[in-house]
Amino acid sequence: MRLLAKTLEGLEEILGDELAAVGAQKIFIGKRAVEFEGDMMCVYKANLQCRCAIRILISIGRFTIHNENDLYRAVQSISWDQYLGKDETLAVDATVNSDYFNHSKFVAYKTKDAIVDQFRDKFGSRPDVDLDDPKLRVNIHIRDRYLSVSLDSSGDSLHRRGYRARAGEAPISEVLAAGIVKLSGWDKNTTLLDPMCGSGTILIEAAKIALGVPSFTADRKFGFEQWNNFKPSLWGKIKEYAYKTDVTELPLIQGVDMDRRTLEIAKENVDIANLTGKIKFHEENFETYEPPAAPGFIISNPPYELRLRTGDIGALYKMMGDQYKQKYGGWQAWIISSNRDALKQVGLRTSRKIILFNGPLECRLQKYEMYAGTRKKAKLNKD
Ligand SMILES: C[S@@+](CC[C@H](N)C(=O)[O-])C[C@H]1O[C@@H](n2cnc3c(N)ncnc32)[C@H](O)[C@@H]1O
Repeated sequence: MRLLAKTLEGLEEILGDELAAVGAQKIFIGKRAVEFEGDMMCVYKANLQCRCAIRILISIGRFTIHNENDLYRAVQSISWDQYLGKDETLAVDATVNSDYFNHSKFVAYKTKDAIVDQFRDKFGSRPDVDLDDPKLRVNIHIRDRYLSVSLDSSGDSLHRRGYRARAGEAPISEVLAAGIVKLSGWDKNTTLLDPMCGSGTILIEAAKIALGVPSFTADRKFGFEQWNNFKPSLWGKIKEYAYKTDVTELPLIQGVDMDRRTLEIAKENVDIANLTGKIKFHEENFETYEPPAAPGFIISNPPYELRLRTGDIGALYKMMGDQYKQKYGGWQAWIISSNRDALKQVGLRTSRKIILFNGPLECRLQKYEMYAGTRKKAKLNKD
């Protein structure tokens, strides 16, 4: 089957590697998407194990179209009763990037009409629309004159891992958090610290990566589980194998935040994620926090904008840089932020910059390396 995995801009290459690891063939890296080929087993595994995927789509038709009548005819050329019963439910998602079609809602509406009209003509009754929990989620993508019709095997977006009890302040997407941990090159054995951890997303994804188990809670449901061709025994075996881990001990995975309420949410999330005791939390302002022993990795997603409570955003980033310089020799640090001016205040040499998107915000993921003993040497040179 021709398949497509959607992702966030900047994570395409990593997703390509994740797909190769679950047996995907003929991988082609696109923009915010990776095309590949695979069978149903590959679809099941890609959903469960590719942390940087947002959706896994199965292509069922590609057409060239010029207007809404072409769209209607193209959708009607597919026999929909092989995927859906007349008394079942569907939803249509559409993405449109074309001079021929302006409104994605209209395209979704027209597609839905073409499908339900086919049922009415054939069976005298039609499936209903259910936007929240449909039996079949149809995905329409139009670029210029090219229409791609796909079945969405994921159902809910794959960033919904099932462990987020309540959202803290500006939580980062789970997909982005996993991508950052992978991009950072964290080796899964060294201390990992998030000094502004909020609801703990980066740390939870990191712990799942280190354990080598899916990021999802075991009860998370996927779209394909409702399909007629669903193979529960194959799925059961894939899950059983995926959730097994040989890793008995994790390195110190430490979260720090000065907000007590957010830390309570983080602890709840960790429990739901089945990681109780595997991530440590500490309530303190990072400015006064005494770090664990070097070496270590710091990954942080600080506030991007000035809020009343955080005061001067530039001063916050300067404080982070000062802390790194003073107390974190032998560590490496990564910061993701959309605030370029604030990032300049960190005041350390950046050894890598990666552009990523946090929702609509263009961000930089920047790396800083604090060499052990640098300060001492610098002082000796001065003397
Ligand atoms: C953007 S949020 C982090 C969100 C987190 N990545 C998540 O997924 O939930 C930034 C966090 O930094 C914390 N924070 C801000 N200034 C801090 C400081 N000086 N020391 C410790 N935590 C701080 C805030 O309380 C907030 O939880």
